[in-house]
Amino acid sequence: MKIDILSLFPDMFSGPLHQSIVGKAIEDQLLDVQVTNFRDYSTNKHHNVDDYPYGGGAGMLLQPQPIFDTMAELESQNADLPKGRVIILDPGGQPFDQHLAESFARESHLTFICGHYEGYDERIKTLATDEVSLGDYVLTGGELAAMVMIDATVRLLPGVLGNKESAPGDSFSTGLLEYPQYSRPADFRGMKVPDVLLSGNHQLIAQWRRKEALKRTLLKRPDLLKKMRLNQEDLELLAE
Ligand code: ADE
Repeated sequence: MKIDILSLFPDMFSGPLHQSIVGKAIEDQLLDVQVTNFRDYSTNKHHNVDDYPYGGGAGMLLQPQPIFDTMAELESQNADLPKGRVIILDPGGQPFDQHLAESFARESHLTFICGHYEGYDERIKTLATDEVSLGDYVLTGGELAAMVMIDATVRLLPGVLGNKESAPGDSFSTGLLEYPQYSRPADFRGMKVPDVLLSGNHQLIAQWRRKEALKRTLLKRPDLLKKMRLNQEDLELLAE
């Protein structure tokens, strides 16, 4: 996968994306990340990229020219790649979730446009296939949001996670929160691992895990359960 990032602060990406699992994906050439500072493409003599909003109001807006010109340059650099998805980071966008991460992971090319200041000139949004928000709060810019989305996406790419980390049983990919898990010792300071997990009975263990995941989701995130279609067995487990 190729990921292009347009940002006024490229250094923000240099540490985090080169550590741990995402760093290894880059090393293994499963991922290629290019960060472009769109200030470099500003035709303004001072390399400005923002200006006051027409009609008045507080703050500055990113202007279209530097971002349009950067996108045109990247398009010619990436002529052999599909255009893929172009994601504008914006607190007013669609909330990011696991399903969106899964759909990003099916692409071979993603472009993230990170805003700063008060917002974007609306015309910049015509470049995007998606406007996405990390959550209902305002960050100083889109960079941290892009990094979170890249992290959640890259770990889903084939070959990125080893067996040790594995993705399919993740919270959210099943639609439920994850069931409780335990490692050795079986008794830690009097806190015991549930007997069923030591039983070796795989059917009972699977049933217990499903039930605990359902219970936990009902307790902590009932909104997730509402979105799911529970089968008869799930309803019986919840009623126990
Ligand atoms: N830029 C500022 N706040 C943001 C948010 N919550 N999500 C995405 N981009 C942002």
